[in-house]
Amino acid sequence: MDPAELDRILSGLPAVSDPNVLVGYSGRDDATVYRLPSGEQIVQTVDFFTPVVDDPYDYGSIAAANSLSDVYAMNARPLFALNICCFPRKHSFELWREVLRGGGDKAAEAGIAIVGGHTVDDSEPKYGLVVTGLVDPGAIWVNEGAKPGDALLLTKPIGTGLITTALKNELVSAAEVAEAIGAMKTLNRTAADVLRGFDVHACTDITGNGLIGHASEMMEASRVGLELHAADIPLFSLARDLAEGGKFPGGTFANRGYYERLVDLDSSVPESLSWLLFDAQTSGGLLAAVAGSQAETALAELRRAGVTAAALIGWVVADERMRIVK
Ligand code: CO
Ligand code: CO
Repeated sequence: MDPAELDRILSGLPAVSDPNVLVGYSGRDDATVYRLPSGEQIVQTVDFFTPVVDDPYDYGSIAAANSLSDVYAMNARPLFALNICCFPRKHSFELWREVLRGGGDKAAEAGIAIVGGHTVDDSEPKYGLVVTGLVDPGAIWVNEGAKPGDALLLTKPIGTGLITTALKNELVSAAEVAEAIGAMKTLNRTAADVLRGFDVHACTDITGNGLIGHASEMMEASRVGLELHAADIPLFSLARDLAEGGKFPGGTFANRGYYERLVDLDSSVPESLSWLLFDAQTSGGLLAAVAGSQAETALAELRRAGVTAAALIGWVVADERMRIVK
């Protein structure tokens, strides 16, 4: 949803008072953390959306990778998942089986089983997962905790909202979007595994609210400022091509309308690029605030582990604003 509309819906609802809820919605974190009577802490998250690509197997796989991402973004290990399926009856059962096969295979790659789910006959298709994970107490990564001097590392390129909208509008071919599909299907597990070896002070993943939206959630929860270097932000080359006069999805406009007030966008940043920074992403990368002195080593290890798009995109600063320079 439009973040401004979500604010209006949630305003006035009672706050969570259960002392076992260690991470709720107050910091707009990716998932909730709940303390069990045994003292162990579980992470739980839910995500589902309408198809972003034509191939049903890829759609299922992307939706599952996206749902699992919130678990990795909090430094947790997934345990099991449930399917959420809104499937129009007008499509063939084989098609929906392919979606579930894609989701199931991705869950298997993450080392977990999908143990059940819920189905609804809906006019518009939607699919995703509820994922439960386990996190070491004291090792949770949340939006809060970024410190001035931290480096901001991003692990996947930006532009999937623009690209999948172009695919929907038949402006690009399936072959042209293969790179973006590959990235959306990639689990954030490897990135999290590498980052765990460093001092991660805050972490989130980049999804519907776009890079600036998720970065600003980290900024506000941490009560710091961010300085992003637009030229260092990894973009899909197709997104770069499409950005000039491109058709951005509705979510991107909503993001800009809502988050722009928090951002000082330097006039040297090209207009088309600035839109990409607000672009609503699907199954995007991790954004981590890592101790500045470790930034180069962390980056090198990410790349060595196969997270080839990983980049240092900016720094955490004291002044509580987001500044985006060229
Ligand atoms: Co998230
Ligand atoms: Co989510």
